[in-house]
Amino acid sequence: MRNEIRFLKYPGTKITLIKDIQKEFVNSGKKRFIDVFGGSGSVSLNINAEEIIYNDIDSDLVSIFKAVKLHPEEFYSEMCVMTDSESDFAAYGSHPVNWKNKKVRDAGILFYNFTTGFGGKGETYSTRERGAYQYTVKIMQSYSKIAKKIKEFNIENLDFREIIAKYDDYDSFFYIDPPYPGRNWYNFSFSIDDMKDLKKVLNKIKGIYLMNFNSEDPIPKEIFGNPQYTIKYENQNAIPDQEYRYYAYYTNSKKKST
Ligand SMILES: C[S@@+](CC[C@H](N)C(=O)[O-])C[C@H]1O[C@@H](n2cnc3c(N)ncnc32)[C@H](O)[C@@H]1O
Repeated sequence: MRNEIRFLKYPGTKITLIKDIQKEFVNSGKKRFIDVFGGSGSVSLNINAEEIIYNDIDSDLVSIFKAVKLHPEEFYSEMCVMTDSESDFAAYGSHPVNWKNKKVRDAGILFYNFTTGFGGKGETYSTRERGAYQYTVKIMQSYSKIAKKIKEFNIENLDFREIIAKYDDYDSFFYIDPPYPGRNWYNFSFSIDDMKDLKKVLNKIKGIYLMNFNSEDPIPKEIFGNPQYTIKYENQNAIPDQEYRYYAYYTNSKKKST
């Protein structure tokens, strides 16, 4: 396992796919990497590119990245307040303290809610409390690397149709990891009509795109046809009796990897 940078706990994170995403990006010869459905930022945080654009429609997620980019030390102090002790951690969400930079404080609360609620709004908090505390302490150990990388991001908060229109040119590589219709894990879910729109947008895109889906899911095949290729990964999600996961990749790149 490589030494990937981790930051937010989030469902559907693609940290295990980085090596293959990086390979396609390098093969494309492009300079600009656009993480259209950026989520936890696990891909943006680990990709090597001259220019990285992190985008997500969820302004809560985006505000966390902006707080780290614009106020890295204050955000770190906020994490220190959060993790001073396990009991402080447990009380952090419900007993906000006064803080001079309200935006950083709000971002701290959102970070906390994503970490304890696993990408939701904190509803499933109590059972994950201890794991979330340890996770946050671990994240703080690599915070300088996280903050250094986020400092270089261009951060956007747009719908996929807008971000693609804004950056579409021959220097751009779009990484496309949309939510799966009907699986409502996120604050913003995706409909079949969104998928159909995505197909229309990708059909006339000037840059290169790379899109992935869980290969067992039927909707992508119905809309986009057969993928260019499928890759097998060891399953790190601890789902019993599922040793491997298979991801289907779609790309308009001429050079196909195998
Ligand atoms: C599968 S997750 C992305 C996971 C990400 N690749 C990672 O490694 O964490 C999909 C993301 O798409 C975002 N999203 C949903 N609808 C969107 C839209 N119309 N435009 C842009 N982002 C959207 C969600 O907020 C969610 O964070």
